[in-house]
Parts: sequence; structure tokens; C-alpha cells
Amino acid sequence: MTTADDPKKPAASGMRRNLASYGDPGFSLFLRKAFIKAAGFSDDALDRPIIGLTNTFSDFNPCHGNVPRLIEAAKRGVMLAGGLPMEFPTVSIHESFSNPTSMFLRNLMAIDTEEMIRAQPMDAVVLIGGCDKTVPAQLMGAVSADVPAIQLITGPMLVGHHKGEVLGACTDCRRLWGQHRAGQIDEAEIDVLSGRLAPTQGTCMVMGTASTMGCLVEALGIALPGSGTIPATHADRIRAAEASGRQAVALAKSGPRPSELLTKAAFRNAMVVLQAIGGSTNGLVHLSAIARRAGMTIDLEEFDAIGREVPVLIDLKPSGDHYMEHFHWAGGMPKLMRELRGHLDLDAMTISGQTIGEIADAAEEVPNQTIIRSASAPLKQTGGMAVLRGNLAPGGAVIKHSAASPALLKHKGRAVVFDSVEDMVRRMDDPALDVKADDVLVLRNAGPKGAPGMPEAGYLPIPKKLAQAGVKDMVRISDARMSGTAFGTIVLHITPESAVGGPLGLVRDGDMISLDVPARRIELLVDEAELARRQTEWRPPAHLTEPSRGYRGLYLTTVLQADEGCDFDFC
Ligand code: FES
Repeated sequence: MTTADDPKKPAASGMRRNLASYGDPGFSLFLRKAFIKAAGFSDDALDRPIIGLTNTFSDFNPCHGNVPRLIEAAKRGVMLAGGLPMEFPTVSIHESFSNPTSMFLRNLMAIDTEEMIRAQPMDAVVLIGGCDKTVPAQLMGAVSADVPAIQLITGPMLVGHHKGEVLGACTDCRRLWGQHRAGQIDEAEIDVLSGRLAPTQGTCMVMGTASTMGCLVEALGIALPGSGTIPATHADRIRAAEASGRQAVALAKSGPRPSELLTKAAFRNAMVVLQAIGGSTNGLVHLSAIARRAGMTIDLEEFDAIGREVPVLIDLKPSGDHYMEHFHWAGGMPKLMRELRGHLDLDAMTISGQTIGEIADAAEEVPNQTIIRSASAPLKQTGGMAVLRGNLAPGGAVIKHSAASPALLKHKGRAVVFDSVEDMVRRMDDPALDVKADDVLVLRNAGPKGAPGMPEAGYLPIPKKLAQAGVKDMVRISDARMSGTAFGTIVLHITPESAVGGPLGLVRDGDMISLDVPARRIELLVDEAELARRQTEWRPPAHLTEPSRGYRGLYLTTVLQADEGCDFDFC
């Protein structure tokens, strides 16, 4: 039931909200109370505003290892403010424990989160997440459920150390693995390194997808100011949890709901921040999915135009040198937003009750810090990402040019094509592979439907024989994603993907490919008549023509392309 003046606002609150249907609402409430009293709740407790807390703890998810303590603190905050906290489980996704990919499961978590918020009686919800796909999934679900929500991030890990060097997951995971492949690091040392790259609970501490989302939730205004960057193991993280619980009670009483908070201005602010932090390319896909749930579109041309004006201001890996804890102690998101004042909509509201402008005004000034740059001394003159178009990517493609080799941003090379992730794994290190340093490595059938699940395979490894000869970067293009932690001249998310008939499926070994990032072009230099001829020979991958069941069947038939956020078409 909803109120007459606002069809989305429920008429009932607390335990009376979202009753199970037995055909008699009075009986439904009576039964609900009878069962919940079995857990020892008093009538006084049950009469309070109810605050849901998502429990995404899992032994398979060390990025969420601190969730029990965050829940404990958030509950304390809820009770201090006079509410009743109710913890409930949802799907939890960790990058390394998600077969085939975490992206394949993100929408499952979004649906789970949405329906659990909708089904159970809660007046507001604290979304506790951190690992790459969990925060996007929670926001997608919360936007659709449209119950007042506050995002609490689990927080980044502290840095690791090895032989006097500071290490970060997972930019250094890739760099060091590359050195291992090239024979510069032996088995014994790579084993030692596996214990030093991720030294604490929490999320990857470079500007990967988890850190990117930690920043974006502050830019969107759906997390408390400064809370997105606090290290997972710090006492301030616990205090942020308590404060989030407290604030959730205020949200339960007077909102705003996600539909009121996540306006066009909020999404534009998020795009500005995504460019200024040198954020993960995955952040763009997730932002598109969240916006779509809110009935809006992330315009790729607008995003690219923002990137031409907004410089990268954060000196963090993989675009720079430092880590999330350094960003936090340099002033975090409030300080960054102060530096970005001229680009942000300062009147955009946040769940704290302050505007973005007020939060920026209150930012801490840290003397002599060099992590958050001013616009007059940026890390990079333009934003982190560029959107490319051309006959290879009519629906767009993305490159994180802030983490690419400048010399390769304008490049023509011969295509070396891998037909699938499996094909790449099989042949990449074959000494007989016909490949040179100035070739363009092409991976296809690795998009949302093609792999399926759009794996982070876009960071194609440098062929072993070239790596051993000292080659560190090559132009690599694909319809896959890439970890936000990776470095290289890598074109991603080519849309439409090859598995649904995109032009990437027509590339042959030896074709010439032109990449021109300043002109935002990616072209296959093959004439149209030949491409039309190849099109008649093209066939989709077998798994898209065979029957499939269950969640996989739902995924394969309804997942959208990267430019629409890879959400399901019915969501
Ligand atoms: Fe969880 Fe990197 S694996 S954030």
C-alpha cells in the first residue's frame, strides 16, 4: 500500500510494512510479531523505525572480512538514534571466488538485494559492501527498491611491503606476475609475494574498481562524507559504521529515497569524479547500470567531454604512485571535491543533509600533501578515460589513457587475433606465435554474452617471448573488461561485442588497426566490401545457439551491452 500523495511512499512503517499476504492484514501482522518475538524482541523494540543492514560477510570474501565489526557498530548507531537494527544476508561476491566471473553474478546480487529490501519490513537500509561488484549491485538493487539507503564501504586494505618496496593489490600483482612470466622473479619469490600483496582485510588499495566505487558513492551523495576512503582496519572505519547506522534512522524518518537523491546532477558529479580520480573503467559500466535503474542514461559523449576538461588530480596507482590510505589522509573525497568545485554541481544533496558544496567547503587542509593535486598542478592534464568510436566500435569503446603508454596512444599495427579467452591462453606464449612488439593484440568473444560474463581478460598478457625481450606494453583491444588496477594501452568494452555480431568478430590476423586516442577513433583498415563478405561467414559462438537453463539462461538471453551497464533488459 502507498500514500495517495506519493505513490512510492509506503503508508505503513516498521513491522507493519511489507506484510506477507495471507488475505488478512491483521493476521499477517499478528503472525509476524508472534514469530519475531521468538527471537526475544519487546513490543517497544518492534515499534521503532526498522533499519535493515545487509550482511555480505563470507569466508570466501576477505574484502568483506570486517563486515561483522561494521554491522556491530552500525547496529550501535541505529540504537543510539532510537531505531531497531535488523541484519539480513545477501549474496556476497569476491573477484577471485566467482566462476565464471564476478560480473556474471553482479546482477544476481542486485536482484537479491532489491527483493530482500522490498520483501522485508525496513524503513531504511545500510548497504555494507566493498569488493568490486558488491557496491554496484547494492546500489542497483536499492535504487529499484527505492527505500532510503546509505552505503557503507568496507574500506581499502593497508599497503604491503617487500624488500623495501611498497606493494598494492592488484596493480603490483600484475606487474610482479609479468616479471615472473619474463623469468625475472623465481617460483620461491612469487610464493613469498602472494603473502605480501594483500596484507589486511579490506578491498584492493590502488584506484581499482572497489576504490573507484568508494569515491563514487561520496560523489553521488549516498555515503557519509569522507567515509569512502577510510582504511578497512582503522578505528575511523568503525566510527563511520556507527555514524551510518545513526544517519539511517534519520533517513527512515524523512528520506531522501534514492530516487530523490540520485538526480542527473548527482550522476554528472560522479562522472566528473570518475575522470578526476583516474578511476576504473568498470566504474563507467557500473555507473551506467545504476543510472539506468534510476531511469537515466550515462551519455558516453558527455563523459568523454568531461574528461577533456577535468584533469586527473589524484596521484594513485595505476595512474600514479600512491595508495588509498594516502589519499584518505591527504583529505579524501571532500578535499578532492574542493579542488573540483568548478566542475561539480555544488547544490547536489547528500544523505548527510549537506550539499556537495558544503562538504567541499568543510574539507580538511593537510599541509604539504601531494596526493590530491590542484587543477594548476594536475597528475594528468586530462581525465582518466576516453571514449572511442569508429568502424570497430560503433557503440563505443573505452580506454584508460591515464594508465597507458603515451607513445602508443596514436598507433597503427597488424592484428594478432585470439578468438576467445581459451584461445588466448593456449597460444599467447607459443614460441611459434607470429607476433611483434608493434602489433595489436585482439581478443574477442569476451564480452557480456561472449565469454559469458565479460571477464577482466582485456589486460592481455604480453607474449612471453616479447616480455622476455623487454616489451612492457602493446596496444591491446577487446570486448572484455579490465581490472581497474591494471596498467597498459588497452581498449576495452568494444560495443557491440563480437558474440552478437559486432565488427570485432570480423577482424583477421594481419589486418591493420588504427588507434588514435586524441581523435577518439579506433578503426579496422579493411574496405567495406570485404567486411560485408566476412559478415556473411560470421557465426555466433556455440553457447549462444544452444539451450541453457537457470540463471545462466536468464543471463544469456537478457544481459545488455556495456554501454547500457550490462544490466538485465527487464531490470
Ligand atoms: Fe575485492 Fe580487489 S578483490 S576489491
